[in-house]
Amino acid sequence: MGPGGRILDLGCYPGSWSQYGVKKVGPKGEVVGIDLKPPDRFTAPNFRFLREDILTLDVNWLKGEVGARDVVLSDLAPQTTGIRLTDESRSLELAAKALEIALALLKEKGHFLCKIFEGEGLKAFRDQASPYFLGMRPVRPSAVRKKSREIYLVGTGFRAIDERPITQVHG
Ligand SMILES: C[S@@+](CC[C@H](N)C(=O)[O-])C[C@H]1O[C@@H](n2cnc3c(N)ncnc32)[C@H](O)[C@@H]1O
Repeated sequence: MGPGGRILDLGCYPGSWSQYGVKKVGPKGEVVGIDLKPPDRFTAPNFRFLREDILTLDVNWLKGEVGARDVVLSDLAPQTTGIRLTDESRSLELAAKALEIALALLKEKGHFLCKIFEGEGLKAFRDQASPYFLGMRPVRPSAVRKKSREIYLVGTGFRAIDERPITQVHG
């Protein structure tokens, strides 16, 4: 994705990904970042911050507010408790909301990158997201500590799927 692109950065604080994004999209593009905490050391003319709790965010409101996006990034991470199942299920909840937002806002052929903790729900999450993308693969960045359970799912080539139930034809 290059100049003029429109990125949505979920869980943007303190702003490193958004900072990288604004450079990629240039002055004609735009990055919108959402987090519970405002980035205090990062600002740019083509960066807009929304202070929101993703979990209670109305997706239709967001769509009206920021419009369609070429890329939706989610680096959302819960406050970890050290209790594996709790942390996994909180991460899954954030990832599920990020997916809901991506499905509503992505342009055709757009891309989705989503952090998620490895665990029992990962396969089901991937199976749910995959049909909407031409490609879907897990990536573990080399910077992530070996014992970390974080991975990123990268979905490329978004395609809207008609979810209306197939009408039964009788007779
Ligand atoms: C790993 S940090 C993101 C780092 C960021 N990508 C960067 O490059 O600087 C995860 C972020 O998710 C945010 N977060 C967690 N739960 C959230 C929620 N319910 N709504 C909004 N943001 C949330 C946290 O506040 C935290 O800033």
